[in-house]
Amino acid sequence: MNTLITAPLPALLDRLFADDEASREGLHARMAEIPAGQRAAMMSSKTDYRALYTSMKHAPLAVSRATATLLYMLARTMDARTIIEFGTSFGISTLHLAAALRDNGGGRLITSEFEPSKIARARANIAEAGLSDLVEFREGDALETLARDLPEQIDLVLLDGAKGLYPEILASLQDRLRPGALVLADNADWSVEYLAKVRSPVEGYLSIPFAQDVELSMRIG
Ligand SMILES: C[S@@+](CC[C@H](N)C(=O)[O-])C[C@H]1O[C@@H](n2cnc3c(N)ncnc32)[C@H](O)[C@@H]1O
Repeated sequence: MNTLITAPLPALLDRLFADDEASREGLHARMAEIPAGQRAAMMSSKTDYRALYTSMKHAPLAVSRATATLLYMLARTMDARTIIEFGTSFGISTLHLAAALRDNGGGRLITSEFEPSKIARARANIAEAGLSDLVEFREGDALETLARDLPEQIDLVLLDGAKGLYPEILASLQDRLRPGALVLADNADWSVEYLAKVRSPVEGYLSIPFAQDVELSMRIG
């Protein structure tokens, strides 16, 4: 049994990735109009992220297909049972992570998103895939929602919300990361502070840039 390649998931993912692709052109054009320095400040901000993401609330902003497949493979390989996701959007990465939990025999995926309309769409997508029993949605700013009621031990983390907050979200989760836990951060290049932390072995991580735009880090035991 492989949930990722068994109906209904392939058709659902094809549809969602196609929607993502379709929304990219307009987004790239809008982004290109913003001067580079201003764009960098916007993408890295620790305070002004809400307006930015609200302006993109109709876009899936999903991880790439390769990154999504990588998430499924990593979760399967390490037999992950507890997963935290920062940035749900329409739930494309969530679907891959929840599918891995299903195929691992069960588990708990906590995912966080502050756009109510996105939570509603993600919920519907997860329900359509028959994975609702594995996913807990936390609506609100992840700085708050991921600062409490966490599992004793965390196996895998996906960081994919506001890039400037990666250090703070990692700090909230860090004490729960089991030795060997993996943290995958998408577009981590926007957070120099985050990369400096996970790339320093004295901070307790081994880390490599992986594929396009991904930083893959392991918590050292
Ligand atoms: C890049 S998208 C996530 C895509 C998703 N992981 C996927 O692959 O399908 C980032 C999402 O994080 C949400 N977000 C950004 N900062 C957040 C925060 N501080 N708390 C909660 N959600 C946040 C945005 O609204 C947006 O939907």
